[in-house]
Amino acid sequence: MAILGGTGKFGKGLALRLCGEHRVVLGSRSAERAKEAAAACARLAAGGGAMEGAANREAVAASDVVVLAVKADTLEEFARDAAGYAWEGKAVLSVATRMERRDGVFYYRPFLDGGVEVSAAEYVQARLRGASVVSGMQMVPAARLADPAARLGYDVPMAGERKAVDSVVAALECIEGLRFLYAGPLTLSRYLESSLPLLLNLAEKNGIKAPGFRVA
Ligand SMILES: NC(=O)c1ccc[n+]([C@@H]2O[C@H](COP(=O)([O-])OP(=O)(O)OC[C@H]3O[C@@H](n4cnc5c(N)ncnc54)[C@H](OP(=O)(O)O)[C@@H]3O)[C@@H](O)[C@H]2O)c1
Repeated sequence: MAILGGTGKFGKGLALRLCGEHRVVLGSRSAERAKEAAAACARLAAGGGAMEGAANREAVAASDVVVLAVKADTLEEFARDAAGYAWEGKAVLSVATRMERRDGVFYYRPFLDGGVEVSAAEYVQARLRGASVVSGMQMVPAARLADPAARLGYDVPMAGERKAVDSVVAALECIEGLRFLYAGPLTLSRYLESSLPLLLNLAEKNGIKAPGFRVA
C-alpha cells in the first residue's frame, strides 16, 4: 500500500504500525525525502517489514490501496498536482479534516466545490478519476500511532462504497487496537471529519490527552 504525504506525522505513524505486515511505499513530492523517511521508519519499526520511498506519482502506480496523508490545508493543491496519476481502480483512504482555530476554539472547514460545501473526501473523490475514495481515521491521533508502546483502543468509522471500504480495512486490520466500523456512503464523510474539532475542543476544555473515538 502507499501513503502519500508519508513524510508527515500521520503518514509516518501509520507506516510504523503497518510495517512488518505489508510492503509500504511512503510517497512524497520529493522522492529523496520519501526514501529518507522510509529508511528512518524501517529502522524504528519492529518486525522489519518492507518499506520503500518514492515520489507520490510512482507510489500510486505501485499500489492498489492508497492513503492520502497530505496536510489537509494543501489538499486543493495536492488534488491539482495528482489529477493525472494512475487512480483507476484504486481504493483511496482520505484521513483529512480541515480545521481552523478562532478565539481558542477549533472549527471545521469544509471545501468548496462549485460553490457547494463538501467534505475533504468528497472533494478528492471528484478529482481523482477512477478512484474509489473512502473516508476514515480522522480521529486516530498520529502521536499514538507513532508511539510503539501506546495501546490504541479506538473505533474507526469508515464511509464510502462498501467494496472500497473492505479493501482499505483489509490493508489496515493488522493494526492492533483499532476496530473498523462501516458508517455508510461517502456523503457521511462530513460527519466523520467534523467530529474531530468537537473531540479536540472537548479534550482541551476537559484536560484529556490524545483523545479518540469509541462507540460504547
Ligand atoms: N496529525 C494527526 O494527529 C492526524 C490524525 C488523523 C488524521 N490526520 C490527517 O492526516 C493528514 C496529515 O496530517 P499530518 O499531521 O501528518 O500533516 P503534516 O505532517 O503537516 O503534513 C503531511 C505531509 O503533507 C505533505 N504536503 C505538504 N504540503 C503539500 C502539498 N502542497 N501537496 C502535497 N503534499 C503536501 C508533506 O509531504 P512532502 O513535503 O514530503 O510531500 C508533509 O510531510 C491531514 O489530512 C490530517 O488531517 C492527522
